[in-house]
Amino acid sequence: MCCCIRGAITIEENTKECIWSNTELMLGEIIKRNSLSAEDIISVVFTATRDIDAAYPAVALRKMGITEASLICMQEMYVKGSLPMCIRVMVTVAADKPQRDMEHVYLKGAVVLRPDLVKKKTEAIAIDGPAGSGKSTVAKLIAKELDYIYVDTGAMYRAVGLYCINNNIDYTDAKAVEAVLEGIDIDLVHSEGMQRIFLNGRDVTEDIRTPAVADSASKVAAIGAVRQMLVALQKSIVRKNKVVMDGRDIGTNVIPDARVKIYLDANVPERAKRRCHELEEKGIAYDFDAVAKDISARDEYDKNRELNPLTVAEDALVIDTSDMTVDEVKNKILETARG
Ligand code: DC
Repeated sequence: MCCCIRGAITIEENTKECIWSNTELMLGEIIKRNSLSAEDIISVVFTATRDIDAAYPAVALRKMGITEASLICMQEMYVKGSLPMCIRVMVTVAADKPQRDMEHVYLKGAVVLRPDLVKKKTEAIAIDGPAGSGKSTVAKLIAKELDYIYVDTGAMYRAVGLYCINNNIDYTDAKAVEAVLEGIDIDLVHSEGMQRIFLNGRDVTEDIRTPAVADSASKVAAIGAVRQMLVALQKSIVRKNKVVMDGRDIGTNVIPDARVKIYLDANVPERAKRRCHELEEKGIAYDFDAVAKDISARDEYDKNRELNPLTVAEDALVIDTSDMTVDEVKNKILETARG
């Protein structure tokens, strides 16, 4: 069966590079959103507005390795007042789904052509990043400022890790952890921009803040059944509240349609410095090198695990907080959220 998919994108300037990179972006999205492979594409008709003449958009597909499909480029019929600098496509594909299931793709300025297709974003601020990048500090401040609730998802993984430690469960053994999950009840209570976490009715907000629990959290977070249970809980909180939620997979997995996505980063020495400062404040003895080593090891584990690893969401704003004050980071995020 054949289906037709429409797409359109506006480009910034009439140059070869701009025409090809935008065409590749649009076709890439059409392929991704419709779960196609290059071989499914039968033909593509391109049109470009009169102000685009530096290159044929079709060349971008050849560059993408789409060599079998029939391609043709045409100048678009000029209509007074129509959108300038726009490339449109009509893609014919071999599909085993009906036409109504095809997803048309309108990007950049071309979204105005089909406002009916624009999906409403979830009113949430997703903040991801590695340990010590400053997520929780700024997330709390932003939640307070916007009157949203702050949800620290790392605390949930920590609570599962703590349960394992307290009950002598080997947290590196997925089967053993899976077997006890039914007996784990996690509850979050939010007030005044703060979160308290309860494990089977007991407040463990402070108990989960040790290096040993952090390590166990990272390990249980790689177990599918644990992620399933906690992501379901996180999604249900998002459905009922406006949230600032921080973690590792918030923008990529828990709230992929969040209105604002932020990825905070900082170099390892700076993050280790921040962690040591926290430990000092709590009166816990520390060794800087050991803290830095722990942070690097946890990064490694969180970024390379199979399930929902720590990655930057495509549409996230990346902020390197190494040389920024908390206020600067907060203001940058608020600016984005309000913008
Ligand atoms: O942010 P944190 O240090 O409290 O997180 C503890 C661990 O939990 C972290 O090493 C990885 C895991 N985690 C996760 O996998 N996904 C999340 N959304 C949050 C945390």
